[in-house]
Amino acid sequence: MSEKKDVRILAYESSCDETSTAVVKNGREIESLIVATQIKSHQRFGGVVPEVASRHHIEVISQITKEALNEAHCSWKDIDAIAVTYGPGLVGALLIGVSAAKAASMATGIPLIGVDHIMGHIMAAQLKDEIEYPALALQVSGGHTEIVLLKDPVHFEIIGDTRDDAAGEAYDKIGRVLGVNYPAGKTIDSWAHQGKDTFNFPRAMMEDDDYDFSFSGLKSAFINTCHHADQIHEKLNKYDLAASFQAAVIDVLAHKTMRAIKQYKPKTFIMGGGVAANHGLRDRMSAEIAKLPKEDQPKVILPDIKLCGDNAAMIGAAAYNLYNDGQFADLTLNADPSLELPYANSMLN
Ligand code: KG4
Ligand code: ZN
Repeated sequence: MSEKKDVRILAYESSCDETSTAVVKNGREIESLIVATQIKSHQRFGGVVPEVASRHHIEVISQITKEALNEAHCSWKDIDAIAVTYGPGLVGALLIGVSAAKAASMATGIPLIGVDHIMGHIMAAQLKDEIEYPALALQVSGGHTEIVLLKDPVHFEIIGDTRDDAAGEAYDKIGRVLGVNYPAGKTIDSWAHQGKDTFNFPRAMMEDDDYDFSFSGLKSAFINTCHHADQIHEKLNKYDLAASFQAAVIDVLAHKTMRAIKQYKPKTFIMGGGVAANHGLRDRMSAEIAKLPKEDQPKVILPDIKLCGDNAAMIGAAAYNLYNDGQFADLTLNADPSLELPYANSMLN
């Protein structure tokens, strides 16, 4: 019997403020991962400045391509496919990765694969453990808050979405009010563990029988509370504020996700995206799933914390599944800043 050949993918990610390259073997094994972060350049503006992001991407992308190959002890001839995030994200930022990947593919003749950034975040789980299908993912990042049903490794459907702010965006906005540098999620998470849920902020859409979210009411309630305290020169405890905000976010995410798990009965539950690094959310989801009857408990895969944020390894993992499915791109591949996974047609299948 002939042994199955290893598949090595060189992946690019440049959709926002990290430029990243990686070599991933068989969609499961990281042979190298380089992440060049630009966060410091954006911090003084309180968020990502698209033009600045593009300039940084272009400065480092050739260098980190070489680094990823060197660190994996590879040359181009060892690479079976070149993968790149082509959306969603900042168009100028995406274009740098897409152009680099296309140029490399054209120069070497290695096939090209375009990857959806959200599919990538979800597939960070595949780098940790084997996903059994159907699977259900809670995808929570700076730009997205979605519940996604995975029918197989390449067919994903959104069953719930945010109506306004994404969870990470809400963290970053309330972080600004508390004087926390962008991105604020990690600091608010650590403050939350030092405080108590005393402010009783609103939990939106808990009673609705869909899987959608809304965080703008919570954000406004938080900001109003802080402004009101300022006006009357009252000093609020920042740890309790963080704990109260985080409790409201987690209650809503956990409630809706558990409802979806009960409805769809997935074999695996996955969390993905920057907010999936949140310790409170990770603990809560694991605890909620442990409360289900044994036979209804999906396998839980929480990606390594360092793979929750943007990185090219997750793009290499997702690309491996597309490779196996024969989904290659050609040189007409373009950045698509508003690329979206398909929405489920029906809530009941
Ligand atoms: O996935 P990501 O790196 O970029 C996007 O695709 O958006 O997510 C970044 C987001 C930021 O909003 C950041 O504040 C949030 O993830 N984040 C967290 C934590 N770590 C990062 N939010 C809550 N708790 C954390 N520990
Ligand atoms: Zn992301």
